[in-house]
Amino acid sequence: KIVPVILSGGSGTRLWPLSRAVLPKQLLPLVTENTMLQETLTRLSNWAEVGNPIVICGNDHRFLVAEQLRQVDIHPEAIVLEPVARNTAPAIAAAAIALKDKDVLMLVLPADHVITDVVAFEAAVRRASVAAEQGKLVTFGIAPTHAETGYGYIQSGAGLSAAEGCFDVARFVEKPNAATAQQYLDAGNFYWNSGMFLFKPSAFLAELQQYAPDMVTAVTNAVEHSYKDLDFVRLQESAFAASPSDSIDYAVMEKTKLAAVVPASMGWNDVGSWTALKDVQPNDAAGNATRGDVFMKDVKNTLIRAEGRFVAAVGVEDLLIVETADAVLVAHRDCAQDVKNIVDHLKASG
Ligand code: GDD
Ligand code: MG
Repeated sequence: KIVPVILSGGSGTRLWPLSRAVLPKQLLPLVTENTMLQETLTRLSNWAEVGNPIVICGNDHRFLVAEQLRQVDIHPEAIVLEPVARNTAPAIAAAAIALKDKDVLMLVLPADHVITDVVAFEAAVRRASVAAEQGKLVTFGIAPTHAETGYGYIQSGAGLSAAEGCFDVARFVEKPNAATAQQYLDAGNFYWNSGMFLFKPSAFLAELQQYAPDMVTAVTNAVEHSYKDLDFVRLQESAFAASPSDSIDYAVMEKTKLAAVVPASMGWNDVGSWTALKDVQPNDAAGNATRGDVFMKDVKNTLIRAEGRFVAAVGVEDLLIVETADAVLVAHRDCAQDVKNIVDHLKASG
């Protein structure tokens, strides 16, 4: 049996002004009419081996998350609330501790990714489950297309004899600098880490115990003193707050010797920026993607998203234009990553 563990705690700052702290990327209908969280969950719903999901999110998002699950008729095993954000490793640890005595595999999934080929996704999870049953921490590798610095890189090693299509991980490097990312791209035997993982709860916890014992202590405390409130499981605040803050990638995946990778071609995109979002939408012959009430004349390679008001563009190219009720973004498409600087500025200026 596979228990999906859905991470729904990020803030998606590079998709400002649509994605906000109160309404982050995973809770928005960015690509389809459903939100990214709903897409993540419904993608799994016709699959016999997959049980009810555990969704982990911040306290502030609890009602939105519960409502979005209800809308698509998903019955969660639990909605676990983090009193404070401690990044992905403690969140995943909380689920692993709750599941550790059960004979299940955890399928850790970010709530905000696009996967267009669900058949390939399921096949990859099936291949991964063979290695995960043997105690491996299995990652899903995406063939890189450019020297992206926002991802983890996985160098594949020898094939696992007992698990077809699954390879040992020779090296896992989280977010290398641009020169190193280019080297990995040129080398040819590196994959991007998709951010999804499959493993036994006990296998993950044993590795976490080795590399971040303080985290295991703090999160175990937080789970043991957690309590149910309506449909939510609240992690005990001071115990959880005492955990170090770290991602699974740095805390475990870069260090473990038990990592494996299943390369998969499944139309994966983490829609981390407005250019990535443009890429997953239909583009017209001039390379434009629009949503909402938009007029264009002599416009090329531009994304225009109008949430409420009418937006018109004339004689421009290579722009990202996003209109919302209280803010408008106009950026060059080469600067999509710098949109997060706006959020930093807004935070700093209160
Ligand atoms: N519950 C919870 N709590 N979820 C969280 C938290 C948290 O404190 N922090 C992040 N998340 C969720 C995010 O919403 C996202 O769905 C997922 O966990 C990954 O976090 P990101 O912050 O988006 O990570 P990243 O994009 O920098 O890097 C990760 O994903 C890349 C692929 O998209 C890494 O795993 C990289 O190695 C990977 O390439
Ligand atoms: Mg991300």
